[in-house]
Amino acid sequence: MRVLVTGGAGFIGSHIVDALVARKHRVIVLDSLHPQIHPTGRRPAYLSAKAGFVRGDVRTRRILADLIPRVDAVIHQAARVGVGQSMYEINEYVDANTRGTALLLDVLTSVRNRVKKLLIASSMSIYGEGSYRCPSCGPVQVRDRREEDLKRRRFEPYCSRHRKILRWERTPETKSIVPTSIYASTKRDQEEMCLMIGRAYGIPTVAIRYFNVYGPRQALSNPYTGVLAIFGSRLLNDNPPLIFEDGGQARDFVHVRDIAAANLAALERAGADGCAVNCGTGRPVTVRQVAEDLARAMVKSIRPVLLGDFRVGDIRHCIADNREIRRRLGWTPRISWSNGLAEYAAYLRTQTAVDRVDNAIRELEQRRLRRKSSR
Ligand SMILES: NC(=O)c1ccc[n+]([C@@H]2O[C@H](COP(=O)([O-])OP(=O)(O)OC[C@H]3O[C@@H](n4cnc5c(N)ncnc54)[C@H](O)[C@@H]3O)[C@@H](O)[C@H]2O)c1
Ligand SMILES: [Zn+2]
Repeated sequence: MRVLVTGGAGFIGSHIVDALVARKHRVIVLDSLHPQIHPTGRRPAYLSAKAGFVRGDVRTRRILADLIPRVDAVIHQAARVGVGQSMYEINEYVDANTRGTALLLDVLTSVRNRVKKLLIASSMSIYGEGSYRCPSCGPVQVRDRREEDLKRRRFEPYCSRHRKILRWERTPETKSIVPTSIYASTKRDQEEMCLMIGRAYGIPTVAIRYFNVYGPRQALSNPYTGVLAIFGSRLLNDNPPLIFEDGGQARDFVHVRDIAAANLAALERAGADGCAVNCGTGRPVTVRQVAEDLARAMVKSIRPVLLGDFRVGDIRHCIADNREIRRRLGWTPRISWSNGLAEYAAYLRTQTAVDRVDNAIRELEQRRLRRKSSR
């Protein structure tokens, strides 16, 4: 197939490009080389030489109208990616992500030869809190944790009826969608718009809800990327990782090559057409464990600093129930946490990174999006 990968010069997009090239698909990348991700402004050296490359914004109709009639499938990864930043660059996030996708769909539906597949990068962030169960009353929906609780360092969600701490459970696709950031609401919009238009126009469409993706090429100097890249850039500069809350919050870390494999499976198979599917391992790792495991893998004896403070909109736990993607696409995660982390530590040793985390924390503080807990 001829495949257009938007955002294909980015972290995840470039690994999808590699997987497509390995399967002999023909690839065109459309990427604006956003300066926060690509400070040099040049086509990254890691991007496969076998891929065609167009530098441009997904919000430019002329470029989309030129590229889309030439491809059989579109894999839409281009987006602004940063939960905290989206809370103060509201217009830019909605414009790039929601309107960018709207324009893409406009062009997709107006060409004579419709594409045979559309894949959209969705996110676990659309769930807000993951699924929970009260030992006494069963499944409970957790909406926002209360600020008074967070200030008193009661970070674990509890049952308002029994005051018992809730147990997290794996989050299935049927869980209610409750975005707690502008970024998350744009991901929900992208997913809903693509699935809806896909159904209306008979374009087989799959939304893949990525959990926390990690691996080589994640922009290290971007303080709004994933926690592994942020901790990695701190440790590379011999600074301790900074941890919000008590570090007991758990996430589901899925390796970027497993994400690429899920995209290939969704492209080449029909099992998930019309669906939104989770893509995560189902295995929890706490943020404190991330800091400790990564320091160990990098052979640095630097302990993380527990800030105790919290960020507005942060969730406590969200772990994937991945039975749907296993059943529909035969996908299964192949890269274990220990192997993935060892590879990532080796990759970090070849990198230099400017640590901009302090600036990012200051931005949150100025906007009162970071709050203090009592000690
Ligand atoms: N990294 C994660 O953990 C994660 C989790 C869930 C979902 N996602 C989604 O996966 C996709 C890829 O994320 P990533 O982590 O690779 O991020 P990334 O920032 O590394 O890659 C995004 C790429 O898109 C490009 N881009 C941004 N805005 C653009 C625009 N308007 N027009 C053209 N190109 C543009 C950037 O230059 C960059 O190369 C995004 O849609 C993101 O929302 C990522
Ligand atoms: Zn209860």
